[in-house]
Amino acid sequence: MALIKQSSIRAVLDACDMVEIVSPFTELKKTGASFMGRCPFHNEKTPSFSVDAAQKLYYCFGCGEGGNAFTFIQKMEGVEFAEAVGALADKYGVSLEFKQGGAGQEEKFRRRERVLSLLDQAASYYARYLHDSPRAETGRGYLKQRGFAGEVIRQYRLGFSPPGGQALLRAAAGKGFSLEELLAAGLATRKSGRAYDRFRGRLMFPFTDHRGRVLGFGARVLDDSKPKYLNSPDSDLYHKGNLVFGLGNARRDIVRQDRAYVVEGYTDVMALSQAGTKNVVASMGTALTGRQLREIARFTRNLFLAFDADAAGQKAMLRAQELAKGMDVSLWVVRIPSGQDPADLAMGPQGGEAFTRLAAEAATLLEYHVQETLSRSDLDSASGRKKALAALEKVLSGAVDAVELDEQLRIIAGRLRLDAENVAYLVKTVSHASAGGKGETRQRVLTHQESNERSFLSLCLAYPGEARRYLQDMTDAYFTTEQTRAAFRWVRETNEGQSGGTGPASLTAAASAAGSLLPELKIRAQAGRDLSSGALHELYFRLSEASINRRISDLKEKLSRDDNNSESFKDLCRLEARRREIIELIQSGSYEV
Ligand code: UTP
Ligand code: MN
Repeated sequence: MALIKQSSIRAVLDACDMVEIVSPFTELKKTGASFMGRCPFHNEKTPSFSVDAAQKLYYCFGCGEGGNAFTFIQKMEGVEFAEAVGALADKYGVSLEFKQGGAGQEEKFRRRERVLSLLDQAASYYARYLHDSPRAETGRGYLKQRGFAGEVIRQYRLGFSPPGGQALLRAAAGKGFSLEELLAAGLATRKSGRAYDRFRGRLMFPFTDHRGRVLGFGARVLDDSKPKYLNSPDSDLYHKGNLVFGLGNARRDIVRQDRAYVVEGYTDVMALSQAGTKNVVASMGTALTGRQLREIARFTRNLFLAFDADAAGQKAMLRAQELAKGMDVSLWVVRIPSGQDPADLAMGPQGGEAFTRLAAEAATLLEYHVQETLSRSDLDSASGRKKALAALEKVLSGAVDAVELDEQLRIIAGRLRLDAENVAYLVKTVSHASAGGKGETRQRVLTHQESNERSFLSLCLAYPGEARRYLQDMTDAYFTTEQTRAAFRWVRETNEGQSGGTGPASLTAAASAAGSLLPELKIRAQAGRDLSSGALHELYFRLSEASINRRISDLKEKLSRDDNNSESFKDLCRLEARRREIIELIQSGSYEV
């Protein structure tokens, strides 16, 4: 548990603008009292994700995700609570205070902040050096010769590292940074007891996270020496395999166009962006990782892979299908002509045109797989066709879209000269294989009972006056899940005015046990005010009936084991009578009791 003071947590929450926080991830439109958009947590065509700006909550009517600004950042960025608080404190300029004994945590925070600040200042330093220094002339000449203009160089904050051994070290020391901080930032190395700049005489490409914070560097040599790129070492702050290059610049365009292009290199990103395709990021080499896919999938579910047309690039695109299994993304392949990369295309005689034309003809990853496999196979011999079939089975088992699969199967049947029986065989293995993979969606199915419980609780929030007597009558036994029981306790506390309904931060035990259900209830309560309170009464009696039914079946079960128990029998009769009353009430629809 974080040791940030509760008052600080509240101050951060007060400063938060929920609409602003959510907006980079999905487009929100104001509808009535709330904002609606397509849910960033699951794939959907029509908006069911609701943000309540005043209460600072979000809730998806489709998949049931809900919470406040902190849970949103936690989920989106995959970070712990304390880090989410820290990120939002940063964003809204709130300075955090820590509890007694929180010094360790505070220390970690401050250290991280300082290393981030150092990295940011280093990026500025390298950028200035590239711009101004006579010793960076080679760097400027190189970029010019490659066709990169000032604007894109500034956008991506390119820089040049001084060729000497310690220039950055000295500059950083002058600003009060310690050697230890320089090492932690990956900017210095130690050699036989002496410290040096890690990057010397190289073109500097800062990697940023999606918020644009510099976490490390890739540094390119200007000649043919190896390695071509020297990268920051992995650290607490930064793992190259978790990041994609350019996301900070691209994310708005990615969301706007609901599509991202994924290329291999820094220069591909810059060249495409300069040519007008701005929704582009780089995997930084071909080994696209699951973390990287997920990083991009937060902004769009449509990923267009545009890797180099060499063996490594092809392998990466095939691997991507594996990685994407169960991730709810659509993968496409933009075929780059062999011997070229997207930068060559974008810088070529046709400029951005060339790439957009290829992008318009993008194949689905499945189609690409099938075509690749078929083109590699000898379809003229029976044994070649048999081999192709074996290879294709594997490819097809990764398919998730039934319509697309069907289409590819027909193509394959034609090319392999298969008869219907073999196609059926393929289909069988395929549907079998995909049953375990993509089958589970994130959509939850509520039982009718649980959904009644939730509706009732949200109506209690909407009509606190009318709900009071019910809430006072009811016990936990009216509710059938942990979560609705906890929510019931919270709703009752709120109704009695004990926790005073102090908004999203009112953290009683019941509130925290009810967890993500509370935002749902609060947001549905807003919607519920448009309904009459009649539903509240009806639901109360429906819950009563259900709870009586449960007691009746418990009693019957008890009596079946011990039929001499006259107490239980009397109870049973009483409950049956009450049940009949309630059913009549519900049928008559007049709830004046
Ligand atoms: P490329 O070799 O295709 O480089 O590697 P590039 O970015 O297209 O550079 P130019 O156009 O030749 O100047 C693609 C990506 O792989 C990573 C980098 O992120 C690079 O952008 N890479 C490559 C490394 O990290 N280290 C290397 O030594 C080489
Ligand atoms: Mn390249």
